[in-house]
Amino acid sequence: MTSVTATGPEETVQPGRAPGAQAAGSAPSAVPVVAFANQKGGVGKTTTAVNTAVSLAQRGYRVLLIDTDPQGNATSSLGVDKVNVGRSIYDVLVDGFPIARAISPTDRPGLDLVASTPMLAGAEIELVEARQRETRLREALARVLPRYDVVLIDCPPSLGLLTVNALTAAHSVVVPIQCEFLALEGLGQLMTTVDLVKRGLNPPLDVTGVLMTMFDARTRLSAHVVDEVRRYFPHRIFGAVVPRSVRLAEAPSYGQAIVEYDPSSRGAEAYEAFVGELIARLHLPFRSGPTTPPTEEHRP
Ligand SMILES: Nc1ncnc2c1ncn2[C@@H]1O[C@H](COP(=O)(O)OP(=O)(O)OP(=O)(O)O)[C@@H](O)[C@H]1O
Ligand SMILES: [Mg+2]
Repeated sequence: MTSVTATGPEETVQPGRAPGAQAAGSAPSAVPVVAFANQKGGVGKTTTAVNTAVSLAQRGYRVLLIDTDPQGNATSSLGVDKVNVGRSIYDVLVDGFPIARAISPTDRPGLDLVASTPMLAGAEIELVEARQRETRLREALARVLPRYDVVLIDCPPSLGLLTVNALTAAHSVVVPIQCEFLALEGLGQLMTTVDLVKRGLNPPLDVTGVLMTMFDARTRLSAHVVDEVRRYFPHRIFGAVVPRSVRLAEAPSYGQAIVEYDPSSRGAEAYEAFVGELIARLHLPFRSGPTTPPTEEHRP
């Protein structure tokens, strides 16, 4: 198992394995659970989680996207009204409500959502005294994992209990990093948190990769930041780099992913390339197209 230290560049990657990939049999379940995490705000966590979810569903995977951010941006990016959702991740984490009943189908075949609501903002405090407060999402998720090929978790911009729940439920962390000044600031803290969760609560957790976002080809700064991150994470940086693109920023306001809103844009191409790499790193089985939506088949 590879690990990343909090203070320095990543350590060696085991030969014969894709960087960051799970060793066969190391995860508690064969269904990969991927958390998109970085406590820095506005780096592209939600954009990456949503576009990955829609792209994977379009390729025929059965996908569950869990929004653990009180801002509910993943929920609204999919065109779901976060103020009027029925049961949400709040009910699951705080009240122990069965996650199966908080799952909503989306209008995309193969893609289900556990929505967030603004009430989740209080959960960090409400959970402080709770029993098994760090493992609540993992426990809840275990019952529905067999319905899916992959589960994605959009994390909030903090390292509090919501992110810890996501990291404890996940096998894999993808870290979006914005191509901006101070991009690496705070990453040590994130890696320390990943290491702590890995050592104490979730040994299979691994950093599957870092994705550079909002790359601006006109600036030297963007190229410099990519170089710097490549030095820090030589084996884990994804080959795909997401450009800064107005189309990517516009898509959520139409409740669409970029692959729906403008499939031929550079942003869509970059996310498609990223998803191809992610599929390989997670060792997801090949899928050639859409399958029956999980919600039709398996909803209790
Ligand atoms: N490649 C891109 N080009 C241009 N705009 C982008 C790009 N990626 C994301 N954005 C926009 O930047 C903003 C922040 O992106 P996003 O919400 O994905 O980040 P985040 O890390 O989830 O933020 P938060 O920490 O608040 O949850 C959003 O308005 C989004 O539409
Ligand atoms: Mg977000």
